[in-house]
Amino acid sequence: MSSISSDAFEKAYDLSLSNPSQFWGSAAKEITWYKSPKIILDTEKTAHGQWFVDGKLNTCYNALDRHIEAGRGEEIALIYDSPVTLTKRKYSFAELTDQTAHFAGVLKNFGIRKGDRVIIYMPMIPETVVAMLACARIGAIHGVVFGGFASNELAVRIDDAKPKVVVSASCGIEVNRIIPYMPLLDGAIELAEHKPSAVIVVQRPEFETELLPGRDWSWNEAMASADAIDCVPLNSTDPLYILYTSGTTGIPKGVVRDNGGHAVALNWTMKAIYNVEAGDVFWAASDVGWVVGHSYIVYGPLLKGCTTVLFEGKPVGTPDAGAFWRIISDYKVKSFFTAPTAFRAIKKEDPDAELLRSYDLKDFKILFLAGERTDPDTLRWAQEKLEKPVVDHWWQTETGWSIAANCAGLGLLPIKAGSPTKAAPGWCLEVLNERCESLRSGQVGALCGKLPMPPGSMLTLWNAPDRFIESYFQEFPGYYKTADAGFIDEDGYVFVMSRTDDIINVAGHRLSTGGMEEVLTSHPDVAECAVIGVADQLKGQLPVGLLILKTGAEKQTGEIIEECIQLVRDQIGPVAAFKKAAVVSCLPKTRSGKILRGTMQKIADNEEFRLPATIEDPVSLEEIDEALQKMGLSKARK
Ligand code: COA
Ligand code: AMP
Repeated sequence: MSSISSDAFEKAYDLSLSNPSQFWGSAAKEITWYKSPKIILDTEKTAHGQWFVDGKLNTCYNALDRHIEAGRGEEIALIYDSPVTLTKRKYSFAELTDQTAHFAGVLKNFGIRKGDRVIIYMPMIPETVVAMLACARIGAIHGVVFGGFASNELAVRIDDAKPKVVVSASCGIEVNRIIPYMPLLDGAIELAEHKPSAVIVVQRPEFETELLPGRDWSWNEAMASADAIDCVPLNSTDPLYILYTSGTTGIPKGVVRDNGGHAVALNWTMKAIYNVEAGDVFWAASDVGWVVGHSYIVYGPLLKGCTTVLFEGKPVGTPDAGAFWRIISDYKVKSFFTAPTAFRAIKKEDPDAELLRSYDLKDFKILFLAGERTDPDTLRWAQEKLEKPVVDHWWQTETGWSIAANCAGLGLLPIKAGSPTKAAPGWCLEVLNERCESLRSGQVGALCGKLPMPPGSMLTLWNAPDRFIESYFQEFPGYYKTADAGFIDEDGYVFVMSRTDDIINVAGHRLSTGGMEEVLTSHPDVAECAVIGVADQLKGQLPVGLLILKTGAEKQTGEIIEECIQLVRDQIGPVAAFKKAAVVSCLPKTRSGKILRGTMQKIADNEEFRLPATIEDPVSLEEIDEALQKMGLSKARK
């Protein structure tokens, strides 16, 4: 340990690595079990480890019912604030439990049993949280799909998860438009080979949809005739949910989370990392379609007995760049979590944070940022304007919570701009070279976690046990490969620099450039293409396509580019934010045929780059540079 530390953090960190069973066994005591686990960590079956394997619990019981039994039933569990529908509503633990128990009854009436999958394709409304918790209540496995994904992406997830039932809503609401969900869902069901037997639809007053007789059922009607169902005891390692995330191909990875490890870890993080207790108001401004929404809109805060905020709006435009300050002030939010891109959006609209002046933020203690690296400019702006600590923390869908964080509940460490601080308890992080040798402090390499992984990390990949091993454990035996590159400095501070694969991060959303390339090459006139992630002041990165057309393509290049942009929007969804592409005559490649995406990205970002000795045709780089300049990227080079 370096000189920069706090006693509580150091003690927790050391114990978590020297005696993980003692550390997490003690954390497990804060969860209510039907059968308390005797085996805390099992590394016999898998080197990455399984947690609390002989324990039995129910996550929904821990998130809801037990708070009522503790006499807190009338306290507020969920605040729904929706500037896009001008709605505000509070749900007590008792009310949320009642709704959840009834929706569990609805699921049971539709034949859903333990282990069955339910796809949830919904906007940020309370029914989404109810549907997730109702699945957890009866041991059904939910798969929430982000509303910004198009039919094709939804179809891929339906085919992989094979849900009996899909839960959806009549529409989502963006800043400037209503998005009818049923055409997207109908399209997905038509594309998918697997056909769910029923669709349960929340009819929103902003846009009511027609229901398909025999397949679609109204949420309200189904609820009216359902009994309230109690929680079902589950094994710790029974899956709680599948959450699909981008992999290096167009086929997403279905990250599977367990019940026991997840409940113990998330409950522990609420105090240790976010420094909140039961009764405090915690807000994560994300979307339930992402891991941040799963962990810190729904499960983490409710497990701890906090009030959580469900915000259906944007940092800007609903109605202005003061929306975040309003929520923090109105609901006395103590700890707030969002993505740096949201702060960049606010800073762009209201650079002097004028709107902040009209709100009282005295209960607000600390801001957490994640989803992408917090750039020093954004960090400084947020620190200066809020006059509160601003903490960057690093994690992934796979890990479910922080790999590196400044653990506010264990004593805040000094903040270094550009670093998510130190490895969190449970994580023994090392920087490795390609020979799996540990590098010295300051040297850049692959950020890897020594096995076992702490509780809350993924159990496996749904339907893809081999891909699970290949993706995460094969390249660096004995370690979990994060697929992020970076270094650790002499004080133990972690610096995350970039991905080592083709994943890009657009407005905090994880996307695969490989997946976009697959869509682009399906255009009849595109022979070959490359998608690169270029730096963007607001969204962090944006995808840009470089296309080579088939000989004899008859359409105008402009028309083909427009069709390609539309194709990505239709196939992946608007969230891909794919809006720039150019036609070139060739792509720079090594002699072995590998496209030099990294070099093109550096040209676009106007960074220094070194040409690989094996490049086939350096001339093609000039054409790429020119094409990028025409799109407003890169700068003239000599
Ligand atoms: N359903 C349908 N469409 C959606 C959607 C949803 N749930 N979410 C986003 N979209 C659409 C948007 O309307 C936009 O469409 P457009 O191309 O027609 O304008 C497109 O997808 C891109 O959305 P987004 O990346 O959100 O860009 P934006 O310009 O609307 O907003 C920010 C920019 C920075 C304000 C916004 O991205 C933001 O708040 N980001 C926070 C990130 C976050 O929560 N990340 C989760 C991990 S912490
Ligand atoms: P997701 O699985 O969508 O949460 O995306 C995970 C990826 O986002 C990580 O592998 C990183 O590349 C990036 N990321 C998330 N948080 C941070 C952070 N605080 N600093 C740097 N990169 C981050």
